[in-house]
Amino acid sequence: MQLPRVNSDEETSDDADTLYPDEMSEVTEDDLQEAENGARRSSERAVNVRLAASKRLLNYNDYLKLDQILSAQEPESKKFDVEIHDEMLFIIIHQTYELWFKQTLHEVDSILKCFQIKSDVLLPENDLAICSQRTERVIQILKVLVNQFDVLETMSPQGFGDFRDFLSSASGFQSKQFRLIENKLGLATDQRITHSGCPYFQHIPQVEQQQEVLEAEQAPSLLHYIQKWLELLLDESWSDSTSDFAQFMRDSIERAAAHDRHAISEYPFPIASHLPNSKRVPREKAVEEALAELEKKRLAHLRLFDPGAHHELLKQGSRRMSFKATMAVVFIQTFGTELTLQTPLVLINNLIAIDEQVSRWRQRHSTLVMRMIGSKSGTGGSNGHAYLNAVLAKSRIFLDLCHASHYLLPSHSMPALPAEVKRRLLRSKRPFATSEREFDRYSDCGGTDCPGHPELTRRETRSNSLH
Ligand code: HEM
Repeated sequence: MQLPRVNSDEETSDDADTLYPDEMSEVTEDDLQEAENGARRSSERAVNVRLAASKRLLNYNDYLKLDQILSAQEPESKKFDVEIHDEMLFIIIHQTYELWFKQTLHEVDSILKCFQIKSDVLLPENDLAICSQRTERVIQILKVLVNQFDVLETMSPQGFGDFRDFLSSASGFQSKQFRLIENKLGLATDQRITHSGCPYFQHIPQVEQQQEVLEAEQAPSLLHYIQKWLELLLDESWSDSTSDFAQFMRDSIERAAAHDRHAISEYPFPIASHLPNSKRVPREKAVEEALAELEKKRLAHLRLFDPGAHHELLKQGSRRMSFKATMAVVFIQTFGTELTLQTPLVLINNLIAIDEQVSRWRQRHSTLVMRMIGSKSGTGGSNGHAYLNAVLAKSRIFLDLCHASHYLLPSHSMPALPAEVKRRLLRSKRPFATSEREFDRYSDCGGTDCPGHPELTRRETRSNSLH
């Protein structure tokens, strides 16, 4: 394996020193370990594939358990000898949704695990890249889920009404996986809309499933880990106090305001000759008004970088993320083209996109419900469309990442990123993740049943992997 090494004779400029600090160019113990592990993984995998092939000849049907899946569609109307054609579509659509929910949870769980293992240190670059790829996959799944409503909308309200009564009290309200996704992403309890005084989880009939949903509500969510990761990133790049970046932004706002003030005074607007006399404002007055407007904007912008004012927003419930994490998002958004901040920026954009796709799903579902049952109550007992619209308005999870856009200054008003911060960022980036990553790669070889390498299948080490 080719290991990274920098020829010190060639690296003479300051730039090169900045790009390849010593600790990144040395061949470390970790690098050697990684090379050795790579070779061992490859040989063990080859043995496992041979073993699997010798055991049995797998076929498509058995591998996918198609007999089970394809015999799981039992229209209720058929049981009463009045089979309604569209009920098959209704069942298959719901089952497909649940399968995609399962895959979504698989991705979200792996991301949570990754952040959980490294919750006290800044996530290594490779792990961050894997998390970004998996959030990208969740976005694509959610897009499929949104578009899948097109198929269901080929059913007419009459067609639905013909079998709706057979559904009794069955409702999407009872989807355990949907609630798990919400909780694991970070929907807060106080964002829930209750009706008839019944908490959301009590609509799920099985007590064990209710318990699972409640556990997910109490466990640290993705939003929680993202906040922690953002705080660490700010600490590592801007010393160990948040005030540095906030101060950097406040200084930039003051500088931009001074430039604007100068421009307003030195280059007053031309008299608006196209306006009637009654509407014309004397030049001095126009300048005065423009300066007053600028001052208002300056103060409002500065206020966003005041930790006390942020605390007020948290108390009012208009923000969920800490001041430090918010500063980190502004930092990443502002300097996202820096090599070291590109993956963090992708991750942030992906989380915003996930939130938007979930909202789109809620929107499409709510519109569909209006079309299918008008203002009737749902089979789960809510007031249907009105309930779903109330949920839609209250259920954004990563909205604070969008709020950060309000804090930004135009690029041309921003000074360059201080060299010291660039250096810190580079130093904080670990190109190779630590040994837990190894187990992630092993996880596709059969887990605890894997005969090849018992030392790698101990429970505690597998539970540390990304999967
Ligand atoms: C004709 C099609 C559909 C109708 C009329 C319908 C109706 C409703 C109604 C009225 C509710 C509110 C709860 C209640 O009182 O029952 C609801 C909730 C829900 N439905 Fe549907 N639904 C349809 C299709 C779907 C599909 C295809 C899915 C996919 C899994 C789905 C998943 C859900 C979920 C997860 C909830 C809970 C939403 C929340 O509380 O935030 N629904 N549905």
